[in-house]
Amino acid sequence: MKLNRKVLSAYPPDPNNDSFTKLQQLHMSVSSEERPMSCVQQRFLNQRSPCWPTGKRRQSGNLNPAVLPLDWLLGTWQSDEPGEGSFPSISPFRYTETLHFSHVGQPIINFMFNAFHAESKKPLHRECGFIRLQPGSNKVAFIIAQNSGLVEIEEGELTGQQLTLRSTSLARTSFAKEPYVQQISRHIHMKPDGRLEQTVSMALEGQPLTQHLHVTYRRTD
Ligand code: HEM
Repeated sequence: MKLNRKVLSAYPPDPNNDSFTKLQQLHMSVSSEERPMSCVQQRFLNQRSPCWPTGKRRQSGNLNPAVLPLDWLLGTWQSDEPGEGSFPSISPFRYTETLHFSHVGQPIINFMFNAFHAESKKPLHRECGFIRLQPGSNKVAFIIAQNSGLVEIEEGELTGQQLTLRSTSLARTSFAKEPYVQQISRHIHMKPDGRLEQTVSMALEGQPLTQHLHVTYRRTD
């Protein structure tokens, strides 16, 4: 519901004016998620990069309550030691990776993962997307685009500081390179020492779900 200035100006701020008081009460009863952002709030957010949160912003109060259970992800994470990549059909490899989780006040967490070859430092895998929580439940969805031409939806559960996900939908560009991924599972959790751990498995045609990636990260802001 929107209460614009025109409507409010029709009701002068007279405490004895019953209609104005009712309108004010109505405005307060609209949840912050539904209430449109003010121009000042919008300008403040636009001035700052929507993708790279600062540590200050991570702790700031404008996180939408709908994604509060995911606040432990917010910020920037860097692989503390090279991640391990493997799969039966490829040679094992090591990689570094930076993760950014941010928000702009919507009931959504934005993310960006950038991976590099550990030795050559060449950019390799990149993915970015959005995390949504089903209101009133611990059901979580990752909406992901990968630089390989793959797009996917992963759904699963948030339990404390642990995310368990499985792809429910996969699509790719018509000219994506084979072999085609058939299924992805992902596990992200906060370890007791404050590090983040991610494990990704995938299935290809003729190759059941098998681990492809394992990596831990330290928070850098
Ligand atoms: C969900 C995320 C990912 C998916 C679905 C995915 C998928 C794949 C697939 C299908 C292959 C080909 C396997 C084969 O030829 O049999 C592959 C290979 C590879 N992936 Fe990933 N990958 C993912 C993330 C990553 C990440 C984060 C890295 C980190 C650098 C990475 C690095 C590699 C490398 C180095 C190869 C071997 C390439 C080659 O030998 O030509 N992947 N990946």
